[in-house]
Amino acid sequence: MSVIKLHDVSKLYGFGDATTVALEDVELEIQKGEFVAVMGPSGSGKSTLLNIIGLLDHPSAGLYQLEGRSVEKLRSNARAKARRDKIGFVFQSFSLLPRLKVIDNVALPLAYKGRLLGRRMKHAHNMLERVGLADRAYYLPSQLSGGQLQRVAIARALINEPSIIIADEPTGNLDSASSRLVMELLSEIHKLGNTVLMVTHNPEITRYASRVLYMYDGSIEYDVQKSVGQLAKTPREPNLFAGENTDEDTLQSVSATMKLSDEKEGLLQPKKKKIRRKPRKKKFVGTTKGRSKSS
Ligand SMILES: Nc1ncnc2c1ncn2[C@@H]1O[C@H](COP(=O)(O)OP(=O)(O)OP(=O)(O)O)[C@@H](O)[C@H]1O
Ligand SMILES: [Mg+2]
Repeated sequence: MSVIKLHDVSKLYGFGDATTVALEDVELEIQKGEFVAVMGPSGSGKSTLLNIIGLLDHPSAGLYQLEGRSVEKLRSNARAKARRDKIGFVFQSFSLLPRLKVIDNVALPLAYKGRLLGRRMKHAHNMLERVGLADRAYYLPSQLSGGQLQRVAIARALINEPSIIIADEPTGNLDSASSRLVMELLSEIHKLGNTVLMVTHNPEITRYASRVLYMYDGSIEYDVQKSVGQLAKTPREPNLFAGENTDEDTLQSVSATMKLSDEKEGLLQPKKKKIRRKPRKKKFVGTTKGRSKSS
């Protein structure tokens, strides 16, 4: 049974001329125990997808089944309960409460569940031990490094023992050593049989995943199964995607190179807005599960 099943899911923001299609007819099935990395350009719908799967947002159209149950049919408290008990969230910005001590931040989800104080503290302490931060339990978030803050956020995400972890760019604000620690933790959670769904911009981090989704303009363009430890080949790699370069591609790469050398020289001041073009169809030749939809 799929733990997550989306059928024809779309998400629109705004209306009329100002409508943004953040997701378009997404089909996706995730089995229990998969570690799915989601990649794609800024604005391609990665966070929107995770927010819908994490029950933080509603789709505009389509069907979503979580552990075989139709989410649309859940009343709002059943929905909140499912979100609290089944899903743990980790965000790029950590989202810890600054005035609460580390241990109180970790214990917070248990307070919403009505657990008694002593039990909450004991459990939170165990979680902090698990992420290697028991000695920081009584610090404030402002006294911790970025990597430590993210490990606290992971402890908080795990305290209700959710079976699905949703992480939106968990290493986005971290240096490589802290990223590694955070990823090792997520990997441990995965090895215990949990399902992990994570957005990343860093191809190196896809090593931890068993499957990689590439999004473009609100659609899952490629869906690649791989072994954990292996680096996913990005769609730009010529040996994975055979596609003739157009003049426009050549021009773009030339101007990107010029931009890089200009930046080194400190010549470029304000960043120009990147203009996105519609994707060209590319012939796919790699080992994949197949495209989720034909475009
Ligand atoms: N609350 C909102 N109101 C209006 N438009 C939104 C809202 N949230 C997202 N969008 C739009 O939906 C599209 C997808 O956004 P989303 O945040 O999912 O992208 P993303 O792939 O996560 O990008 P990034 O890599 O920059 O985080 C974008 O065009 C964005 O502007
Ligand atoms: Mg995002």
